[in-house]
Parts: sequence; C-alpha cells; structure tokens
Amino acid sequence: MLVTGSISEIRNTVKLWKREKLKVGFVPTMGALHDGHLSLIRQVREHTDRVVVSIFVNPAQFGPNEDFERYPRQIEKDLKMCRKQRTAAVFIPDTSIMYPEKQFLSIQIDKLADHMCGPERPGFFEGVVLVVNKLFNIIKPDIAFFGQKDIQQFQILSSMVKEFNHEIELQMGEIVRANDGLALSSRNAYLSNEERLRAPSLYRSLQYIEKQVKSGIDEPSLLIEHQKNELEAKDFKIDYIGFFSFESLKPVQKLKSGHRYILAGAVYVGDTRLIDNLLLDYP
Ligand code: PAJ
Repeated sequence: MLVTGSISEIRNTVKLWKREKLKVGFVPTMGALHDGHLSLIRQVREHTDRVVVSIFVNPAQFGPNEDFERYPRQIEKDLKMCRKQRTAAVFIPDTSIMYPEKQFLSIQIDKLADHMCGPERPGFFEGVVLVVNKLFNIIKPDIAFFGQKDIQQFQILSSMVKEFNHEIELQMGEIVRANDGLALSSRNAYLSNEERLRAPSLYRSLQYIEKQVKSGIDEPSLLIEHQKNELEAKDFKIDYIGFFSFESLKPVQKLKSGHRYILAGAVYVGDTRLIDNLLLDYP
C-alpha cells in the first residue's frame, strides 16, 4: 500500500494504473476510521481495481468555534485498517500541501446550503466543496463513494460534479450503525458513557416519525413537534428535525405521493453534534 503526502506521487501512481486500464475508486475521509468508512472502501473495491483513500482533516470546513483542534487523529490505526481492506494507496497530505499560499478563489453555494446543516455551520459546505474539488483534481478517480449519513454533503457534491464537469461517478453508501442504531461517526468518540447511551434516541425518533408517515400522515409537523419535545425532555438540544426534498433540500410541510424525501435531524448531546437521516419514497 502506497502511503504518500505528495501530490505528484499520488498523481503519477494513478496515471500508471489508468495506463494499464485499471479502474480507480476513491474514498475521501478525515480519518479516525470506523466501519462506516470501511464499508465505503469495501463498496469501492467491488466496483474498481484500485482503491485510493485520502485522510485529511480539512481546516477549511471547520468554523472558528468548531472542533478542528480536538478532531480525533489516529493515523497508524487508520493505515492498518486501510491495509486490511486492501487499499492500494492512502493520500495523507499536510495542510501546507493542500493550501500552500493565499487562495484567490472561493466557493459559493447557491440554495443547497440554505437549510438542514447549512445555517448552523456557515462555511462548512463551501470548505467541503473546496477540498473535494481539489482532491478530485489530484486523484482523478473513475468513481468516488460518499456516505448517506452526510446526505446534504452528497447532494452538494453531486451538483459540484455536474456543474464543474468532473468525469467522476458518485455513489452513495448506506449508513452503518452501531447495534443500538446510532449512526457511526468519528465524533461519537466525544460522547461520555451516559451521552452514548442516550444518543440513539435521535434515530428512534426518526424511525417513529417514518412509521407514522408511512401509515398515512401527510402533514407531519405536529408529529415532529412531539418528537422534538420528547428529545428535549431527554436533554437533547435540537437544531432541526424535518422532511426535506431529496432534490432541492428545501423543507417540506406536506408530503406528496410519488416523491422522495429526506427525513433528517441534527441535535446536540452535551457539546456533541449528531446528525442522522432516513430516505423516504412517499407511497
Ligand atoms: P468523514 O466524516 O471522515 O467521512 C468520510 C466519508 O464517510 C463520508 O462520505 C461520510 O458520509 C462517510 N460516513 C461517515 N459516517 C458514516 C456511516 N456511519 N456510514 C456510512 N458512511 C459514513 O465527510 C467527510 O469526512 C468530509 O467532509 C470529506 C468528504 C472527507 C471532505 O473533507
């Protein structure tokens, strides 16, 4: 397994593979790998001949009061996990390689970051688009996999691929969960034992709302209010819970037959922000 922080080395390696007509897959990550990341690596491996993983805690996607400094970093453990998954190359650039000098261009996102996680995390999706755009230009994979857990990120990156004409196929991997339903996340490491026990309640609330909606409720606002109250009673702080259009990511009050929706939530348990979502094809 090649481990490199050099742009030219990873570029040349991928170029050689492509000359041999090998298909190249890519999983960008910020490290602290867990089974969610590994399932993406496995899925990429099924679709391609060579898997590249990047590990880069991207400063551009953290706000000034967010957890960039304390974000978990465990490179040796991550490399071991990548090796076990038969990853062909891991790209681990330094910040100075990714952001060498003053940048003269910036990214602006129109509409897709107006709702869900956008308002609470200004600049976050712009930072994601910036770094993934750079990574795509460096690696130039045939296919890249992203998790449904960050579905807004996936939709925004799909727009980026379309609008910036990247010749890359994006695929979405489903959410990997712990036995009690909590979506795996590198940030779950921040939870105290007591918080970890409470954390799956978000998923349970989403499941409850989904069940009620599937049994015929098409205006779910009261139902959602009730679940928000239940979570608040368990000491969760709610950022949002609601239905959003799968395409536009706009909030939806009334569900219509034949449409696809994202039922998504973001809450704080203590200081830790948890997100989760379910996809719903309204019958
Ligand atoms: P990170 O949080 O490390 O996640 C890397 C990839 O793993 C993302 O596509 C994310 O959606 C996916 N993932 C995370 N938890 C998952 C789970 N429980 N099940 C399935 N997939 C899961 O997302 C980022 O990094 C960054 O924003 C990045 C795209 C690397 C840009 O910096």
